[in-house]
Amino acid sequence: PSRPLILGLESSCDDTAAALVDGERNILAQRVTGQNDEHAPYGGVVPEIAARAHSERLTPLVEAVLEEAGIALADVDAVAATAGPGLIGGVMVGLVTGKALAFASGRPLIAVNHLEGHALSPRLADETLAFPYLLLLVSGGHTQLLFVEGVGKYRRLATTIDDAAGEAFDKSAKIMGLGYPGGPALEALAKTGDPRAVPLPRPLTGSDEPHFSFAGLKSAVLRAWQQDDPPAAADLAASFQAAATDCLVDRSRRALVRVPEATAFVVAGGVAANGAIRAALKALAAEFGLPLVAPPMALCTDNAAMIAWAGVERFRLGLTDPLDAPARPRWPL
Ligand code: KG4
Ligand code: ZN
Repeated sequence: PSRPLILGLESSCDDTAAALVDGERNILAQRVTGQNDEHAPYGGVVPEIAARAHSERLTPLVEAVLEEAGIALADVDAVAATAGPGLIGGVMVGLVTGKALAFASGRPLIAVNHLEGHALSPRLADETLAFPYLLLLVSGGHTQLLFVEGVGKYRRLATTIDDAAGEAFDKSAKIMGLGYPGGPALEALAKTGDPRAVPLPRPLTGSDEPHFSFAGLKSAVLRAWQQDDPPAAADLAASFQAAATDCLVDRSRRALVRVPEATAFVVAGGVAANGAIRAALKALAAEFGLPLVAPPMALCTDNAAMIAWAGVERFRLGLTDPLDAPARPRWPL
């Protein structure tokens, strides 16, 4: 492998992950295990269950990636672990594991902001992607527009004032009895429905500040579903998806107008798997003469390769952290 060789750990939500990434963008090994089965009965992530699962799984995953890559712990240049934001129990498991590995190997710790991992992940996938770019991060936990000007230079242009977009998909799917996580099931159902069948709100669209809001949309889905004469599930799913897409496009357009220096419009996060949303964002990017860059799904959803890569970028700039670096459940970029 080329240098620096970084071991990355991720455990801030419901995915436990470890990965080894080098300075030439090679992912030498990576493992991710989700917890959908554990949380499905509750329709959402239960923090205590997540923390226990992380603590059982993380160390075996680290051993597995080192073995698969044929790398000894002493050969890594640094250990990068997510230090926040996220569910505190899981963050602590990953950060403490990272500290122990750093101490044992005598290598530095890099305490990575999970959002920075997402923000830089497109550069792991695409070596031609240069700063600055506008990133739309849309997942079950985040809905943000970040102007990425360089490593450590992020300008948050928008965030959600209530639910994340993926959360709105999951909650709407739950209302319609589609299971958890509901995004993929809702998209599949929407394919057979009429997106104009049910009139739904597009919260905040047209407003000057490019923030997001999805709680009102979800409530409207609930009201429509609980009517005496409810719409067909496929029509409600299609109408919801169209409304959510309109919100993402309108808010992103507002942000793109503000950053004419952007060289690309990048989308990351689990919701970026949605075909209708991707198509709409691609058309939006074209309005501004920009390419839409979407990293492969394995790098878009929570993973440790993006944490290791953020570690590579930080290590090169000499940005390492002391072993008493705090776990930060809330940590804006
Ligand atoms: O990035 P991700 O794995 O991280 C977390 O937030 O944990 O994103 C998961 C989210 C879930 O809310 C899921 O419902 C949503 O992404 N999602 C989708 C689709 N696939 C996943 N939402 C809409 N359409 C999809 N095809
Ligand atoms: Zn994430």
